[in-house]
Amino acid sequence: MGFYDTEKGVKEYIKLAEGYDGAELIEWFSRYLSEKSTVLELGMGPGKDLDILLKKYPATGSDYAQPFIDLYLKLHPQADVIQLDAVTMDTPRQFDAIYSNKVLQHLSKDACRQSLAAQHGRLNEGGLVLHALWYGDDYEEFGDLGFQQYTEESFVGLLDGRFEILETKIFTEMEKDDSIAFMLKRLAG
Ligand SMILES: C[S@@+](CC[C@H](N)C(=O)[O-])C[C@H]1O[C@@H](n2cnc3c(N)ncnc32)[C@H](O)[C@@H]1O
Repeated sequence: MGFYDTEKGVKEYIKLAEGYDGAELIEWFSRYLSEKSTVLELGMGPGKDLDILLKKYPATGSDYAQPFIDLYLKLHPQADVIQLDAVTMDTPRQFDAIYSNKVLQHLSKDACRQSLAAQHGRLNEGGLVLHALWYGDDYEEFGDLGFQQYTEESFVGLLDGRFEILETKIFTEMEKDDSIAFMLKRLAG
């Protein structure tokens, strides 16, 4: 059982993430997204970004950790949220866009490559993707959680020609320029 799969881990994460949300990322995403686009959030955690997405789009939340899903459903019993592993993306549903804030960092590079290929399969033609990650070249572990940082150079190698990078943004979350976000467009094929 991993950090996010426990009530203790979920509580700790909520405390750590206090005061942070993806409002600016979603503002950037919405410049590319047309109205009424269906959006899947991957790794929603407590769902702060899902709440923001839902103000503008029919959004579906997802996470592989059931405690986060249960927490969100307790507050929003009618919400469209599903348990989903970002690596396999094992759902029959298709979306116009995928939004994910600090999630793929927890996968190995091989699993991240696999995830991006699977995301490609779940997107409609011309679909958009936003991934925010920690910026850099390091890999760190805290307990059972791995944190893989990315640069544009290291991330582009995992796309295997399935996506075009429309724009990249280096931004500050906790420390100056500690984060990077990629706006991707699904290529046909
Ligand atoms: C750093 S938290 C980010 C949560 C949320 N996106 C936010 O910005 O607050 C990482 C999230 O990714 C989820 N996660 C980690 N590995 C995952 C996987 N393989 N599939 C789906 N979700 C995963 C965790 O359960 C956790 O909710």
